[in-house]
Amino acid sequence: MEAQKDNRTELLRQIKDEVVDFKESPLYGERVANKVHPVIGEGNHYAEIMFVGEAPGKTEAETGRPFAGQAGKVLDELLASIGIPRKDVYITNVVKDRPPMNRDPLPQEIALYAGFLDRQIEIIQPKVIVLLGRHSMKYIMEKFGLEAQLTSISRMHGQIFLANASYGEIKIVPMFHPAAALYNPDLKAEMQKDFKILREMEK
Ligand code: URA
Repeated sequence: MEAQKDNRTELLRQIKDEVVDFKESPLYGERVANKVHPVIGEGNHYAEIMFVGEAPGKTEAETGRPFAGQAGKVLDELLASIGIPRKDVYITNVVKDRPPMNRDPLPQEIALYAGFLDRQIEIIQPKVIVLLGRHSMKYIMEKFGLEAQLTSISRMHGQIFLANASYGEIKIVPMFHPAAALYNPDLKAEMQKDFKILREMEK
């Protein structure tokens, strides 16, 4: 167990190396041409809570860090509102390279990168996976056999779905994407309410 525990950083580093060298991806050329970075994920390798966003935006690709821009500020505020330090959770995306012009990731890009996320989940073994946005929601709900319960994010946000991961039972919680609060500030209160669920689950 300890050996496996100590292995996490190395296994995550392997993923990083593979993504950095992921020339098969159509987004790789964009990355090189724009002199930006892939965004693998960051946080506690033993986190109980993993956040899964969609794909890096401009600031994320420039810094190589997930949720480092405006949407990240909202995420930081939401975490602060429930007293969970960002360094205690793990934050990543389904797609690890920035799609051009901030467009949504394409289904084939999600399919191409999803294996990295699958491995991150297996390594970190979070008890709770928070889905930020509809693409990560669709991918993870389908991955865990919950596709029959997929509806819109406005219906699903803040609900807890139980699923079986290879390492035990987990909770999956879809939430509004933090960027939504930038366009619709009224959603902030709803998001704060949803985040309180995470604090309750920590107890
Ligand atoms: N939006 C995402 O989905 N992920 C990020 O890392 C930043 C913005």
